[in-house]
Amino acid sequence: MREQLAKIREEAIAKLSQVSSSAELEELRVKYLGKKGEITAILKQMGGLPAEERPKMGQLANEVRAVIEDKLTSARRELDEKALELRLRAEALDVTVPGKAPKMGHRHPMYIALDEMKEIFIGMGFTVLDGPEVELAELNFDRLNADEGHPSRDWSDTFYFDEQSRVMLRSQTSPMQVRAMDSMELPIRIIAPGRVYRKDEVDATHSPMFHQVEGMVIDKGVTMADLKGTLNTAVQQLYGEGTKTRFRPHHFPFTEPSCEMDVQCHKCGGVGCPTCKGEGWIELLGAGMIHPHVLEMAGIDPNVWSGWAFGFGLERLAMRRFRIDDLRLIFENDVRFLEQF
Ligand code: PHE
Repeated sequence: MREQLAKIREEAIAKLSQVSSSAELEELRVKYLGKKGEITAILKQMGGLPAEERPKMGQLANEVRAVIEDKLTSARRELDEKALELRLRAEALDVTVPGKAPKMGHRHPMYIALDEMKEIFIGMGFTVLDGPEVELAELNFDRLNADEGHPSRDWSDTFYFDEQSRVMLRSQTSPMQVRAMDSMELPIRIIAPGRVYRKDEVDATHSPMFHQVEGMVIDKGVTMADLKGTLNTAVQQLYGEGTKTRFRPHHFPFTEPSCEMDVQCHKCGGVGCPTCKGEGWIELLGAGMIHPHVLEMAGIDPNVWSGWAFGFGLERLAMRRFRIDDLRLIFENDVRFLEQF
């Protein structure tokens, strides 16, 4: 029995020093100390020993049990420590790992061009106005001298909301002239950028929605020379010093006289190329002296005050500024396109 106990002790110590899992540890605990375990078996045999042997053997068996218990406890502690260490390592947070850069949005090239434009006109004392895209036909047409029957009022050109053709998506930013005249003190210097809508099919140069920038000045003694001077100054800043412009007679119902302004083609320098369709010039905007009747309708005395206005397409400006050759690219918002600017 003494030898048996010594063997158990030796074997238990060896096995317990090699445990690698809780399950294994539990197995060993049952094997030695369980109800049907080896130590228990020895204790049960104790009854068959001579009376004087019993206490000694009992003591020895208890010693071995204590040693095994001790070993079990320390093996358990080691396993726990190992598990904790593993968990800590798995959950470790490396604060030195560089963060993921957030994806930043990108300014649209058309708004870059618009901001440049605003900058120039604000520098010349203009105020930037914002106005509604859903507009009264009265302001889009009547107050701008385009009477009933004017071709641009046709249903085939304009998006109306009602049978009576009173409410519409504005077809130009020019109603902002009227809104400014109705709401601001004279003199007035404004630009008004925004969306306009016309029933056009989409192609490389047309879209049913596009942007215009309206400009208007009303003051005493304002002439066509001011119009040309201001627009020429803006063009020099936008397209570079020395850019040539040309003014051609035109017609708009709300300006008299009216004109269109062209800039010399940036691609060929005026010789003629595909960009300017062989013209040497590219049409940039419509403009003119505000019609006296338009001033009168706004309660402004045309004998005291005079003014000029212009309107141009913002997409075209941006396309020329960034050499974009298809209008559709401006609206598709493909990031691969937008990221180039
Ligand atoms: N509203 C005109 C257009 O859409 C442009 C324009 C504005 C012309 C102001 C003269 C004065 O074509």
